[in-house]
Amino acid sequence: MNIYASMLSANPCCLGDELRELSTADGIHWDIMDGNFVDNITFGVDVIAAHREITDQIFDVHLMVNAPEKHIKNFAEAGADIITVHAESSHHLYRVLDLIKSFGKKTGIALNPSTSPDFLKYINSELIDSVLIMTVSPGMSGQSFIYSQKLKISLIAQMLSHDIEIGVDGGINEQTIIECTDATYAVVGSYIFNSDDYSESIHKLKNV
Ligand code: DX5
Ligand code: ZN
Repeated sequence: MNIYASMLSANPCCLGDELRELSTADGIHWDIMDGNFVDNITFGVDVIAAHREITDQIFDVHLMVNAPEKHIKNFAEAGADIITVHAESSHHLYRVLDLIKSFGKKTGIALNPSTSPDFLKYINSELIDSVLIMTVSPGMSGQSFIYSQKLKISLIAQMLSHDIEIGVDGGINEQTIIECTDATYAVVGSYIFNSDDYSESIHKLKNV
């Protein structure tokens, strides 16, 4: 399974140094929160653009914001490779996905723990590059994995064509990653950044 490191758990005093320690991660996940869709406020467009200079790794920008359509252009130009929007955050998800594609970026649809996988039935598969299953309620790092999402992960794996990536986000560690075998990537914050050796932690998760 691919491992994307979530910068939300990095030391905010030295994000660039932290990023340089993550060269073995398959991608870098940026949690963008607006204090509205979720309570917390995190990184803006300039932060993404500044760190784009440091690495060629995949940047997965996870927008936990209301009205994500207002922000797609800015994050695309800042250097996002994948822009993941919440199914619950826009009245016009088709339009948002089209907009992401119009900038040549990959799309992701994030689903809150209580959102049904049926939601995906009505979206053309050409518009979906990845689905991100939230295994915690979005808004902060360091929460416990919600085990009811295990069923959702397998249902979504059965529903989608095989070229669509399936991610899990929240509470991932050596024990919980075992529950997510149908996923193709895992977003990991605390487990990596609470360790002394980030590469070793990434290696351990990839080899569970
Ligand atoms: C939660 C974020 C996650 C978070 C994961 O809202 O979307 O990406 O950083 O952190 P951990 O791995 O600590 O649950
Ligand atoms: Zn996230």
